[in-house]
Amino acid sequence: MLELQEVHSYYGTSHILQGVSFAVPRGKCVALLGRNGAGKSTTIHTIVGLHKSRRGSIRFSNQMISSLPSHQISRLGIGLVPQGRRIFPSLTIRENLIMAARKKTVDAKNGWDIDKVYDLFPVLKEREKNMGTQLSGGQQQMLAIGRALMTNPQFLLMDEPSEGLAPVIIDQVGEIICKLKETGLSILMVEQNISLACKAADEILIMNKGTIVWQGTPNELLENETIQHKYLGV
Ligand SMILES: Nc1ncnc2c1ncn2[C@@H]1O[C@H](COP(=O)(O)OP(=O)(O)OP(=O)(O)O)[C@@H](O)[C@H]1O
Ligand SMILES: [Mg+2]
Repeated sequence: MLELQEVHSYYGTSHILQGVSFAVPRGKCVALLGRNGAGKSTTIHTIVGLHKSRRGSIRFSNQMISSLPSHQISRLGIGLVPQGRRIFPSLTIRENLIMAARKKTVDAKNGWDIDKVYDLFPVLKEREKNMGTQLSGGQQQMLAIGRALMTNPQFLLMDEPSEGLAPVIIDQVGEIICKLKETGLSILMVEQNISLACKAADEILIMNKGTIVWQGTPNELLENETIQHKYLGV
């Protein structure tokens, strides 16, 4: 469904993505792991068009998206849950959700609206009149996921959904990701938490210094202590 081929990205003269190639099949969850500064967020930003690649191709549903502006990429059905949640602090929870709403595209099977998001995250309904900043970290993550769902994506990009969360909340995030996969969503998740990635993903990619250096199943990663030590600092 999503395919990157030999993608190169720069910040000024810094060559950040140095030929990134991978694919996310329809209906699957792929996790991208790697140390701080490896280029994970740059990969996500390059896919959604917030940062432009200089070389290589990015295809989504057989359409070349590398040169499209970010609002058009979003309209094709790619939703983003950004690193650090980026909740609007001066809006209520309800307003944060409503402002993201977009009608489902013809081929999106499951339409999302505010009631369905509230069914998935009842705590957001209970607190819908609270401001975005009055939520705990876990609730803010739920709001960030809910806001992305309101755009009715076919494909969800999540940048470190477990960052800064307590272990029990990370488990809940893992369960939510599994539920979303059951609805037919395809997911690319950036993570530093190996156990969350291995629980939720069908396939694992490891990035180091702007390239994919390892690819395999969650079990293959869990059994490979050398790779965990070399690239993930475990
Ligand atoms: N706006 C920017 N301008 C210049 N350099 C940047 C910018 N954003 C990121 N970089 C650099 O690009 C490299 C990759 O950063 P990126 O944010 O993609 O890493 P990451 O894998 O997401 O790390 P983290 O796990 O800490 O979020 C780093 O060396 C970083 O310093
Ligand atoms: Mg990052």
